[in-house]
Amino acid sequence: MKLFRVETLLTRSAGQAAEFIRSGGIVAFPTETVYGLGANVFDEKAIEKIFEAKQRPADNPLIAHIGDLEQIGLLSAEVTAAAKKLIDAFFPGPLTVVLKKTAKVPLNATAGRDTVGIRMPRNEVASEFLIACGTPLVAPSANLSGRPSPTTWQAVYEDLNGHIDCILQGEATEIGLESTVVDCTGECPLILRLGAVALEQVREVVPETTMNMSGDDSPRSPGMKHRHYSPRAAVDIVANVAAIPKTDRSAFIGLNEPLISFDQIRILTNTAEYAHEVFEFFRECDRAGIETIYCEAVTDEGIGAALMDRLRRAAKG
Ligand code: TXA
Ligand code: MG
Repeated sequence: MKLFRVETLLTRSAGQAAEFIRSGGIVAFPTETVYGLGANVFDEKAIEKIFEAKQRPADNPLIAHIGDLEQIGLLSAEVTAAAKKLIDAFFPGPLTVVLKKTAKVPLNATAGRDTVGIRMPRNEVASEFLIACGTPLVAPSANLSGRPSPTTWQAVYEDLNGHIDCILQGEATEIGLESTVVDCTGECPLILRLGAVALEQVREVVPETTMNMSGDDSPRSPGMKHRHYSPRAAVDIVANVAAIPKTDRSAFIGLNEPLISFDQIRILTNTAEYAHEVFEFFRECDRAGIETIYCEAVTDEGIGAALMDRLRRAAKG
């Protein structure tokens, strides 16, 4: 595929970054989950540039990000009762609601679907940028498709320099895993992607929420079937740290200290920290020429469920 090449401007000014959106460009920006790659949701040409720059499969819909709750009306005219509860509880924050879209939202934003994912980030730089843009922005994670999601502006630069107009530089992201995606178009909310808001937390607000992670072939969650979060190194999930074999060019990330030595190692004190570090660790391992990354399994509680989901997908390669 022929990729367009542009000069990528690095800036800390939300106003300057917003100028690129106004002139039809694409801009990476920080959120509390991972960095996103934004385009005006109503600009079909700019949206095409996102798919091209990321080499993203055209059947994978994008999330629309808002800076102001009033913008929901531009995107959907059918906010269901369950969606209202989730919006009240979790906006702004790391949760995406999927609703019927308005005719104004172009079909290339939603990969041909009649629904749209909507999320309001709580990161301050993201809010400032979204408000300066004055329009909702569609934004997938700002990585090359299939690679680990970017949690620093440097990771965005590594994947997309020369292919996007601008990087709005912020801090390393607060959470490090993506938002929880909840389909609110049906009778009961359905979790399509586990993420930063745990299933338990969603159920506290809407107890009848279900989770049908049919994984690779769920027609309602198209993005989940593609290759995901993969470093170049092989990812091996291990339950027992003491049983890891000694191999060349290997790395370890987990909560317990292994008995053998590794070329790269990261020990975390809890699951949230593990989730925060995992994607950047994958990238560090690739830079160091690691061949196998051993990842300690965690329990499926709280953010542990989303972390295990990402590890399993990364392990599939
Ligand atoms: O935390 C996040 O959600 C980050 C930041 C940048 O906001 N964004 C992100 O976007 O992770 P992306 O494109 O990498 O993942 C979006 C996920 C995909 O699995 C996609 O299939 C699903 O959300 N999705 C988006 N719109 C959808 C829709 N209308 N129906 C079903 N699934 C949808
Ligand atoms: Mg992504």
